[in-house]
Amino acid sequence: SQYQKGVKHLCENVISRVPSKYILPVQERPSRTVGIETATSNVNRQLTSLPLVDFAELRSLSDRPRALRLLAKACEQYGFFQLVNHGIPSNVISSMTDASSRFFEQPYEERAKYMSSDMTSPVRYGTSFNQSKDKVFCWRDFLKLTYHPMSQVLPHWPSSPADMREVAATYAQETKQLFLELMDAVLESLGLSQLPGDDSINIMEQFQEGSQLMVVNCYPQCPEPDLTLGMPPHSDYGFLTLLLQDQVQGLQILHREDWVTVKPIPGAFVVNVGDHLEIFSNGRYKSVLHRVLVNSARSRISVATLHSLPCECTIRPSSKLIDESNPRQYKDTDFASFLEYISSCEPKKKNFLESRK
Ligand code: SIN
Ligand code: FE2
Repeated sequence: SQYQKGVKHLCENVISRVPSKYILPVQERPSRTVGIETATSNVNRQLTSLPLVDFAELRSLSDRPRALRLLAKACEQYGFFQLVNHGIPSNVISSMTDASSRFFEQPYEERAKYMSSDMTSPVRYGTSFNQSKDKVFCWRDFLKLTYHPMSQVLPHWPSSPADMREVAATYAQETKQLFLELMDAVLESLGLSQLPGDDSINIMEQFQEGSQLMVVNCYPQCPEPDLTLGMPPHSDYGFLTLLLQDQVQGLQILHREDWVTVKPIPGAFVVNVGDHLEIFSNGRYKSVLHRVLVNSARSRISVATLHSLPCECTIRPSSKLIDESNPRQYKDTDFASFLEYISSCEPKKKNFLESRK
């Protein structure tokens, strides 16, 4: 149908109503919540500042213990935090958001070259959440780029805009290094790093070769933002997601049973715990549901980078985190079972983690 071509394509003609394909059942609409740009809403009521983790503190010998405690608390209580002073140069970040916007501004025919239903393709352009399954579509187009194995994927990435490939490769490399350092801190915060004979050294080596997926999201302006969502409630599958959002808010997380809007901090990353880390930590760190609101005033761009172990690895609770008072909470899992899960049901209706208990 015409909707398979995406929201950006749909909006090439001025539209004043949301087509029924995008209209959610009443109980799934974002009505309990607000976005700052929606005229009718109660603006700051549920705007939240997430816990802040200062990467410079994590890197300082004297400040690290305190920063690790904050990190642990954020991963336990929110499943999310803002990462500041991360050290990735600001031009790397602004080039990435800039090239991403220019990618989506290209004519539909240029973007459509990368359309694919093959989940293993190194480049995949598409729309909605799972466009072959969703009954109601989301107000979102995306470009997914895998960055593993690094040496083989780059030639497949978009060659237009002209700087896209180089900019995305630099961004992928920088976020990979940041993830590795952050993961090292996460392991330490779980008490796993300095134990002799522990698998943490081994696991850090596996992360070096781990899977990395970049998801560039585009949420065009929407004439009736209260009827639809940019992304339905979902959790991310990996260990950690590093999310770059522009200054247009839209991301909401489920916190204490309420949807709260995450306030963008210029230059910071929103980092969240994924399903694999919840499993690995045996439930101590939480993979939290989140969703995206759209708005009628401005389109929004975000870039999510999902990091995990190599695709062939089994994910299981760390043996060091299982004992008599902390029984094992999850079954072993792998990427194949995740892929099977998302292709067999509507992801928004079920939680992958629930199926692994
Ligand atoms: C995501 O959940 O992967 C994207 C969130 C966002 O666009 O803010
Ligand atoms: Fe997500």
